[in-house]
Amino acid sequence: MARTRVQFICQNCGTVHARWAGKCDGCGAWNTLIEEGTSSGIGSGPQAARKARKGRAVALTTLSGEIEDAPRIMTGISELDRVTGGGFVRGSALLVGGDPGIGKSTLLTQAAAALTERGHRIVYVSGEEAVAQIRLRAQRLGVAHHPVELAAETNVEDILATIEDGKRPDLVILDSIQTLWTDLADSAPGTVTQVRAAAQAMIRYAKSTGAAVVLVGHVTKEGQIAGPRVVEHMVDGVLYFEGEGGHHYRILRTVKNRFGPTDEIGVFEMGDMGLREVSNPSELFLGERSAKAPGAAVFAGIEGTRPVLVEIQALVAPSPLGTPRRAVVGWDSARLSMVLAVLEAHCGVRFATHDVYLNVAGGYRISEPAADLAVAAALVSSMTGLALPADCVYFGEISLSGAVRPVAHAANRLKEAEKLGFKQAVMPPGNEDGSGAIGARTVRPEALADLVARIAG
Ligand code: TYD
Ligand code: MG
Repeated sequence: MARTRVQFICQNCGTVHARWAGKCDGCGAWNTLIEEGTSSGIGSGPQAARKARKGRAVALTTLSGEIEDAPRIMTGISELDRVTGGGFVRGSALLVGGDPGIGKSTLLTQAAAALTERGHRIVYVSGEEAVAQIRLRAQRLGVAHHPVELAAETNVEDILATIEDGKRPDLVILDSIQTLWTDLADSAPGTVTQVRAAAQAMIRYAKSTGAAVVLVGHVTKEGQIAGPRVVEHMVDGVLYFEGEGGHHYRILRTVKNRFGPTDEIGVFEMGDMGLREVSNPSELFLGERSAKAPGAAVFAGIEGTRPVLVEIQALVAPSPLGTPRRAVVGWDSARLSMVLAVLEAHCGVRFATHDVYLNVAGGYRISEPAADLAVAAALVSSMTGLALPADCVYFGEISLSGAVRPVAHAANRLKEAEKLGFKQAVMPPGNEDGSGAIGARTVRPEALADLVARIAG
């Protein structure tokens, strides 16, 4: 008989402490320790008494045939299929995280409906909403006539008993992981112990039956999947569904994927009929572009394999403060400081008495260093009050020495810019030529100073 022992588990990182403390030793977070029952709760009882079973090792070479066609379930929603790497993989578990209200349930309801259209059996288990509420949403989305099987359950053993009844489902959606609990752990639902045990049970179900399992997880204000950071390590893939307040578009981003690339995005627009695919995100992010105004530069970016054009806006204004302000939305503030320092040190542009504001239009977020050149162009344009040509795109990385460095996928960036009617590009000298109209009208500054001289006339 296992001894009952009290322990304190960090709800952020899962570190187990013997004693309560204000701060977690594992991740340094404050006030995240919660008293939970014995961890020996998992695996104790009848399960633990199970006899050890002998496994069998298989030669890697004999497996080749099975791996080539990782059996996938395609939804036909191409923005979703791209992010999963070509559809949900049978026998795998996927975590879909995001803020409450961002549209996770909407997305998965639409995906479930699309899958039933292709003859798959889908079970949608909701621990948050009653069956009537799910049906109401489905009606609103215009998919209520699809044979998705709904269940409102929170106990893992009950869920497994429910879905093992009848034909094996192709996909099981669990909305959300925070509401699940299993008899094997004795903490409250939503605690690390419960979430981990419940996720483990569902992952085991996926592996043993070959059904794909999707776990929905809410993200806390701090940007982590509430408590169960731990779940991220256990599943085969993690997708984040994100969006900015006030904007209608939503981005589905791959954070982890054992069966595909991790830098893909899917773009959707939330409307009154649910989520709509946006197959050309550049049009969305450039949509509200005003006529020629100083401080705006269009960056030709890449997300995964897709080019995305976004407008970068800078405002440089004389500062009344001793320490001028630097504010950034949608880009890395350390990167902005670096570009400002290079402009000061190598190009003679002084920002010491100016406030600098930088914004990526449409609430989009850029993580590529290739945006350096577009940011520098926007800053210089705002500083000088001279507008940049409206039909020009910018990309290139800037080194601390002020040199312009080549970046990946130049041809793709140019192709997208051309498709959207841009006629010129400022890009690194080391990159290959784009074919077509822009190819002939590229400017390739060796150093940032050359670009500054060009803008300032
Ligand atoms: P939901 O999918 O319930 O979010 P989550 O599961 O991530 O918590 O989406 C809720 C939000 O989406 C809610 O604010 C209303 C909005 N919404 C629409 O704008 N249009 C729609 O057709 C639907 C179903 C929801
Ligand atoms: Mg929901």
